[in-house]
Amino acid sequence: MKSILVTGGAGFIGSNFVRYALEREPDCVVVNLDAMTYAGHPENLVDLPDSDRHIFVEGDILDQNLVEKLLRENNIDAIVHFAAESHVDRSILGPAQFIQTNIMGTFSLLEAARKVWLEEGSQTAPVRFHHVSTDEVFGTLGPEDPAFNENTRYAPNSPYSASKASSDHLVRAYYHTYGLPVTISNCSNNYGPYQFPEKLIPLIIMNALQGRPLPIYGDGKQIRDWLYVEDHCEAIYEILEKGETGETYNIGGNNQPTNLEIVTQICTILDEIFPDSPYTPRKDLMRFVKDRPGHDRRYAMDISRIQRELSWEPKENLESGLRKTVNWYLSHMGWLESIVQDEAFEKWIRANYSDQKGREA
Ligand code: NAD
Ligand code: DAU
Repeated sequence: MKSILVTGGAGFIGSNFVRYALEREPDCVVVNLDAMTYAGHPENLVDLPDSDRHIFVEGDILDQNLVEKLLRENNIDAIVHFAAESHVDRSILGPAQFIQTNIMGTFSLLEAARKVWLEEGSQTAPVRFHHVSTDEVFGTLGPEDPAFNENTRYAPNSPYSASKASSDHLVRAYYHTYGLPVTISNCSNNYGPYQFPEKLIPLIIMNALQGRPLPIYGDGKQIRDWLYVEDHCEAIYEILEKGETGETYNIGGNNQPTNLEIVTQICTILDEIFPDSPYTPRKDLMRFVKDRPGHDRRYAMDISRIQRELSWEPKENLESGLRKTVNWYLSHMGWLESIVQDEAFEKWIRANYSDQKGREA
């Protein structure tokens, strides 16, 4: 890859991917198209390695003319598509934006790629459209069900996952109908640097540091498969380089703790670092609050295909990844403060947690 268009590269995973690609590929240029919604932050892009090779463009994936222009002018040979509305709770409170960005936005991007790459034939080198998707398209698992694999039937349960499922189908259709060279990855829950503190792990770190309640939806026994974000970036890069077009790959962290276990682990790490804090032991801050409607109970990813075919494996385990993440937040308090002081963030916290007083865990 010589010239990559990353969409949503000012968000959590996108900004980690931009950093990873610049480091891994010394000659490549990364064009970063981001609409800078509440989830996109210029602070996520400070300290990029070799930042001369990073071109930031503030714009919308729905602007097909703009995307076509970027593809032509920069001779783009790979699109890595992260841009999306990504938070399940927000999709429950306001699904319309998810349909617009995740479905219509992906459609617009596919149309631009079809026009410039296939109709105009402007790019002579091999090209690739990589779509970043989620394990949530598979729905929920019972306690004894086998992990999701690439052939598991789609059964999305939230407006977010339904919009991602829909975009996956569009991407697949562009391969079968027009021969657009696509790959799709379905990944489990990411955590790590630059994650916006509306998601479980950074929210718990932030609240635990401030001695605020740690909200646990329902009984806290829901299970997620957690992956350190750099491992996800590496997996996407392996798929770009060695993945077969028209194929999908499952990515996951090979661990399935309950939410209660995750929150407890974060509390223990912080108690070890700050034994004399007035908030220690922080597990006393845990509160059971009203459950998320339609809350998926359990996710687990079977990653044997990507292990076998592309020799990719997660490098970080949950214990080491969580420690790294807590330490990253502690050494980036300025970043956290700039995000938290944002008016839109405060509004969100009030909207989602206002009636959630909770009871002690
Ligand atoms: P995020 O919410 O942190 O970032 C999304 C980014 O997309 C933001 O920078 C935002 O400004 C940008 N964006 C939104 N609408 C846009 C538009 N119309 N045009 C251009 N840019 C736009 O999301 P994330 O957690 O980094 O997730 C990135 C992708 O990975 C998403 O597609 C998500 O579905 C997928 N994914 C996320 C996870 C996870 O655990 N976070 C796991 C699997 C898959
Ligand atoms: O599985 C991949 C998905 O992971 C991605 O596709 C999504 O973009 C990403 O947001 C994430 O979705 P989840 O809903 O699983 O992540 P979240 O961090 O919101 O929640 C993780 C679990 O923690 C979930 O069971 C809900 C629970 N939770 C979450 C929050 C924010 C709580 O108990 N309390 C909370 O305050």
